[in-house]
Amino acid sequence: MAYLIGVFDSGIGGLSIANAITKAYPDDEVRFVNDAAHVPYGTKTSDEIFTLAYPILKKLQDEGCDVIVVACNTVSTTIIGRLREKLSVPLIALEPMVKPAAALTESKVVAVCATPATLASKRYAELKQEYAKGIKVVEPDCANWAELIERNSLGQKQIADTVHGVINQGADVIVLGCTHYHWIEEDIKREAGERAVVIQPEDAIVRRVKQVLGQLV
Ligand code: DGL
Repeated sequence: MAYLIGVFDSGIGGLSIANAITKAYPDDEVRFVNDAAHVPYGTKTSDEIFTLAYPILKKLQDEGCDVIVVACNTVSTTIIGRLREKLSVPLIALEPMVKPAAALTESKVVAVCATPATLASKRYAELKQEYAKGIKVVEPDCANWAELIERNSLGQKQIADTVHGVINQGADVIVLGCTHYHWIEEDIKREAGERAVVIQPEDAIVRRVKQVLGQLV
């Protein structure tokens, strides 16, 4: 049976997730929707994000999605609870990979690149509290990255300065905690070289989609 898999992000970030799911499950239909008129979300309040994201997700549910991937760390970390209360379709949330980063680091310093709203969220604080005890978490200023990536105008110099900055603070793992940054993963890896590993959740989300669909009767 073919499934309808919804994927939502504020902008082009979620497209990287949608592409990975399409590649993994070519027999299913992937419906990617974004909110190009209001991107970026990462500098908005939780209430503003809810007002914008809820109707879009509701529409995807009404269109018959079997599952929706909230391919946006900002939406997931700020309002996933409120969304789950209002929607009945299973929602898969994306969160910064603090736990895997903590397991990987040898220097005991990790960097999380994410939007201001994600970094300020209660959920992100909980992730650090739960999984990053004894580990220093460096949070570079990536506040304008999503908007610049959306316009394909984030320069290599800004990427290089950020990556070298966190490595100089001792980070040996760099977490891509915003799906927009997946599009510059290779640029980040090039700057990091052998000094830090760069992680992002595409593979884990692809596996999770299958797991959730397998639970549907
Ligand atoms: N791509 C989104 C994320 O994963 C947010 C980008 C934005 O709209 O600020 O956080």
